[in-house]
Amino acid sequence: MLDTLTIRTQQTTASRLTHLDPERLEFGKTFSDHMFVVDYRDGEWQDAQILPYGDISVSPANSALHYGQAIFEGMKAYKNSNGEISLFRPYDNLRRLNASAERMCMPLVPEELFMQGLSQLIRLDSAWVPDSPGSALYIRPYMFATDGFIGVRPSDTYKLVIFTCPVGLYYNKPLRVRFEERYVRSAEGGAGYAKNAGNYGAAMYPTKLAQSEGYNQLIWTDASEHRYVEESGTMNAIFVIDGKVITPALSTSILDGVTRRSVLQLARDWGMTVEERKVSAVELMQALADGRLEEAFGVGTAATIAPIAVIGYQGHDHELPAPKPDSFSSRASAALHAIRTRQTPDTHGWMVAV
Ligand code: COI
Repeated sequence: MLDTLTIRTQQTTASRLTHLDPERLEFGKTFSDHMFVVDYRDGEWQDAQILPYGDISVSPANSALHYGQAIFEGMKAYKNSNGEISLFRPYDNLRRLNASAERMCMPLVPEELFMQGLSQLIRLDSAWVPDSPGSALYIRPYMFATDGFIGVRPSDTYKLVIFTCPVGLYYNKPLRVRFEERYVRSAEGGAGYAKNAGNYGAAMYPTKLAQSEGYNQLIWTDASEHRYVEESGTMNAIFVIDGKVITPALSTSILDGVTRRSVLQLARDWGMTVEERKVSAVELMQALADGRLEEAFGVGTAATIAPIAVIGYQGHDHELPAPKPDSFSSRASAALHAIRTRQTPDTHGWMVAV
C-alpha cells in the first residue's frame, strides 16, 4: 500500500484544450492534458503522480509486450447542466479491473489509490469533460507488466496509468453484424471475462474479415459448437423477444459489462421479464422470421447502446425492425443519459461526484 496518498502533480505548461472542437469528438483520438501514473515494485504501489499526458518508455524486453500481461478498463464521466462532474459506476470498473488483474497474475489496485488518482485527474482536467448531447469523458485505466525480462513468468513490477479522452458517439448508425462460426473470441475456462489486451488483439483478424464483407462487427458464438451468442463485437449483446429482455448468461468467456448490468437493472425496474441464459443463433433467426425478435443491440461503455439493423447468418442478411422512440433500447438509452447528466434521480446510487 502507499504510505500516503499524496499524488505529486506536475501540471502542463502547454494545455491543448484550445485545439479541441467539442462538435467533432472522434472516439479515442484526442487525449486530455494529464495522466495518472503509479508504479508497483517491491510488493507495493508507490510514486503516484499526475503528469502531462505523454509517452512512457519501456524496456525492449518488456514482458507485457512479449507475453501480454496487460489489462484495461473503459469508464465515463459526465457533466450536468450545472457543470458538475460525476463518474458512472466507478466501483464496478475497479472490481472488474481487479478480477482481470487476478486472472492475469497482476497486483490488485486498492480502492483509495484508484479513486483518488481518478478523481484528482478528472478535477484537474475538468474543462475537458464535454457536455454536448451524446458526449462524455471516456476514461481508460490500464495496467501492464514492466519487468525487462523475457522468461515466461508473472512480472515483479507493473505500471497503472489512467488517461482520459473527450468522446462523442462511438457508432453513428445502426450496426450490420454477422454470426462468427469459425473463429472464437474466448472459450470457457479462458480469459474472456477479463479485460485483458490479448482478447482484443485476437479478435481483430476475424473482425477485419467481417468488415471486408461489409459488416461493422461480429456476433461471437461459443467456442465448442458455435451455436450460442457470446458477445457482439466489443460489447455485450441484448435481445428483446416477445417483450422479454434476453441476454447470454455470464460465464468465463463473457465480459461482465457495466452497461449490460445497468440496462438489465432498468428493465427489471420497469417490470420487464429479464432472462440471462443461453441464446442460440437458431432461436434468434426463428424469432426474427416469426416477427417476434423486436430488438437486438450491443451494450458497452464506449458505445452505450448500439442498435443492430442487420444480422448475417449462414450467408444471408436479415433485417431487423428500426428502433422506435418507445422501444426498450431507446428508452434505456434515454434513461441512462438522464441519470448520468443528473436530470432524473439516481435511485441505484450509480453516480459518484468527483
Ligand atoms: C468499452 O466499451 O469501454 C470497451 O472496452 C470497448 C473498447 C475496446 C473500445
